[in-house]
Amino acid sequence: MNGSSENPPWPAALRALARPDIARLAPYRHAPWEPGYERLHANENPWRNPADTSIAGLNRYPEPHPLVLESRLAQLYGVPAACLIAGRGSDEAIDLLLRVFCRAGQDAIVHCPPTFGMYAVAAAVQGAALVEVPLQREHGYALDVAGVIAAATATEGPQVKLVFLCAPNNPTGNDLPLTDLEAVLRALAGHALVVVDEAYVEFSGRDSLAGRWAEFPNLVVLRTLSKAYALAGVRCGVALGHPELIELLRRVIPPYAIPEPCIEAVLAALAPASFAATTRRCTELLSERPQLAAALAASPYIRRVWPSAANFLLVDCTDAGAVMARARAANLLLRDFSTNSRTPNAVRISLGTRAQHAHLLAALDCPALPEMP
Ligand SMILES: Cc1ncc(COP(=O)(O)O)c(C=O)c1O
Repeated sequence: MNGSSENPPWPAALRALARPDIARLAPYRHAPWEPGYERLHANENPWRNPADTSIAGLNRYPEPHPLVLESRLAQLYGVPAACLIAGRGSDEAIDLLLRVFCRAGQDAIVHCPPTFGMYAVAAAVQGAALVEVPLQREHGYALDVAGVIAAATATEGPQVKLVFLCAPNNPTGNDLPLTDLEAVLRALAGHALVVVDEAYVEFSGRDSLAGRWAEFPNLVVLRTLSKAYALAGVRCGVALGHPELIELLRRVIPPYAIPEPCIEAVLAALAPASFAATTRRCTELLSERPQLAAALAASPYIRRVWPSAANFLLVDCTDAGAVMARARAANLLLRDFSTNSRTPNAVRISLGTRAQHAHLLAALDCPALPEMP
């Protein structure tokens, strides 16, 4: 794949990037999905469980490829349904990408620490090598664009198939500038897939890259319902990209991957009234972010509050252990990142309710927040 002048056109280039055994794989053939018929073909129980309050009936397998759910999610994210695959959280999408593209012991991914830990875990599970191009702490955890491009196009070492860019980044909270993302996408056309993880994009104020799959066929966008949509317990996330890429991912996702209660919960959550309430809640959380940041900055236990485009704040502490202990004594859990050399003495604080913020600020000897109007 390396050597852009000889690159084949995209669908062929994509198939060449995929593991050859997956490119040849015939997907599992599930029982046909024909809702108009009585079902005596899938070894299900004919009666509902007495505790079953679902719409469709949990005695039946869910739709093997959840068309209604995926069309609704495609509408939400502004792409054709062929450009989307739903999985059990975006965690599953990360795992599918590794399994489709990386040959154990031969291929690699690039990630940019400090960042979301599942890219490295999924790479380790698949036996893929991990190439690190750290974010530049001295520049506000900026992306090293030239470093990423060099690592992904290196002719020595394992072949880089996937580049994971988390935007906004977890745990640092900064978004990656669109111009940086575009530069990487352009430079890696025909070399590697660029996976832009937008788990927190709803809190960033920028548009998602999802709609630009035709312009950047090597783009994969990850979105999730776990954060802005308040559905972490449902486990639903998606990969978005070129239809040929989505078709490859479909080859390895198990049939009936999305349970019926999850499908029903997502469709209900995206109905107009709950959708409008979700949008209002997001706005409410966002209005808390600068206030919490300013109050935390006045704590004697906190040295620095990093700017955030997400629903959390990374703070550098004078003593992270003391901050964790004070929060715990106030019945609040925070996430300790202080042992990571790239986030020394840092703790990540998720945005919560105003009451939770008030307890945290009191525990950290900060000024109280202004009264709610
Ligand atoms: C950057 C990022 N990507 C993906 C995920 C996984 O999300 P999901 O709940 O959709 O599996 C998380 C979860 O915290 C995350 O922070």
